[in-house]
Amino acid sequence: MAVDVSKVPQITLNNGDKIPCIGMGTFGSDRFSAQEVSEAVAGAIRAGYRMFDCAACYGNEAQIGEVFRAAFDEGVVERKDLYIMTKVWNDMHRDVEKSCRKSIADLQCDYIDMFFIHWPFPNYHAPFCDVDSRNPDSKPFSVEEFMDTYRQCEALVDKGLIRHIGISNMTIPKLEAVKDKFRIQPAACESELHPCFQQQELFDYLVAHKIQPVGYMPIGSPKRPERDIVAEDIADMELPEIRAIAAAHGVHPAIIALKWAVQRGQIPIPFSLHNYVANLESTLTEPLTDEEMKTIATMERNNRLVKGQVFLWPGANDWHDLWDEDGVIVDCPDV
Ligand SMILES: NC(=O)c1ccc[n+]([C@@H]2O[C@H](COP(=O)([O-])OP(=O)(O)OC[C@H]3O[C@@H](n4cnc5c(N)ncnc54)[C@H](OP(=O)(O)O)[C@@H]3O)[C@@H](O)[C@H]2O)c1
Repeated sequence: MAVDVSKVPQITLNNGDKIPCIGMGTFGSDRFSAQEVSEAVAGAIRAGYRMFDCAACYGNEAQIGEVFRAAFDEGVVERKDLYIMTKVWNDMHRDVEKSCRKSIADLQCDYIDMFFIHWPFPNYHAPFCDVDSRNPDSKPFSVEEFMDTYRQCEALVDKGLIRHIGISNMTIPKLEAVKDKFRIQPAACESELHPCFQQQELFDYLVAHKIQPVGYMPIGSPKRPERDIVAEDIADMELPEIRAIAAAHGVHPAIIALKWAVQRGQIPIPFSLHNYVANLESTLTEPLTDEEMKTIATMERNNRLVKGQVFLWPGANDWHDLWDEDGVIVDCPDV
């Protein structure tokens, strides 16, 4: 069943461009094959999705590109109807154009709508690596290195290879250190955002600086990779608050998490092989009441699921060092 695309609400970016209020994630979480993910993307385009969150490191851009090509060839959509997002992985920060051109070729899409710097440092880890693995070459965040990567993205805008620049996994201290150095403002920031991890301060900062928040793991990523699961993690969708609201609406708690995200003003990018139609429809059905929005606001539990241990540099204490929790950039050489 297809959703009436013209009815899906849109969000206006800081340069006036309008984009859908919801997208579809494409990370197979080391569990689902490129074939399975690309088949879901094919179905999602036909169901009315127009925004897709891809990444070079998800290892499935070539298969998703085949699906985009088929959709264009069959006249399902034109290129201009899709909003395609992808990201430069940490090992390509010194050769961003090469990474971008490869994603464009793999995705068969001529240009990228939003090109994210996936992580704000060039710390590489191999796919499927163990949570305890460390790369001895990893380094703390550096303003100079980040801006070198960012300037390469600005050059891609100039060349027409990308339309908008995105940043991801940033913190307020890091943003404060670089915000006056942009020639082209970032249009969006992709961050982990779900009911038990709302990052209210970062969210407010982004909105105040006209950077659109994009929320990853909007459902609390129940099937995230094993390496990202620890005993203390909370399953957002199991909490009684959200289950009660879901029961009142007669839907799965995931739908409530997506409604909350859209009404709050972030763009959720849920991954789904089986429920993507319902997720898109959630933007068109009965909104949450003010009371329900307030209840979900109380669900904050500081439940960060992507801790990022594998990106730690020699000498770092633990994953908290990646997130500048004391308001300073940990071990930064140039602030
Ligand atoms: N920038 C970054 O560093 C970063 C990091 C992580 C993720 N991301 C992006 O964010 C996307 C989403 O994150 P995620 O995939 O980890 O987590 P998620 O979207 O929170 O959760 C996906 C899971 O929720 C289930 N689900 C989805 N809709 C549902 C519904 N209506 N009812 C019941 N279950 C439902 C899916 O199962 P079914 O398949 O069975 O529907 C899937 O297992 C990724 O795919 C990726 O594009 C970005």
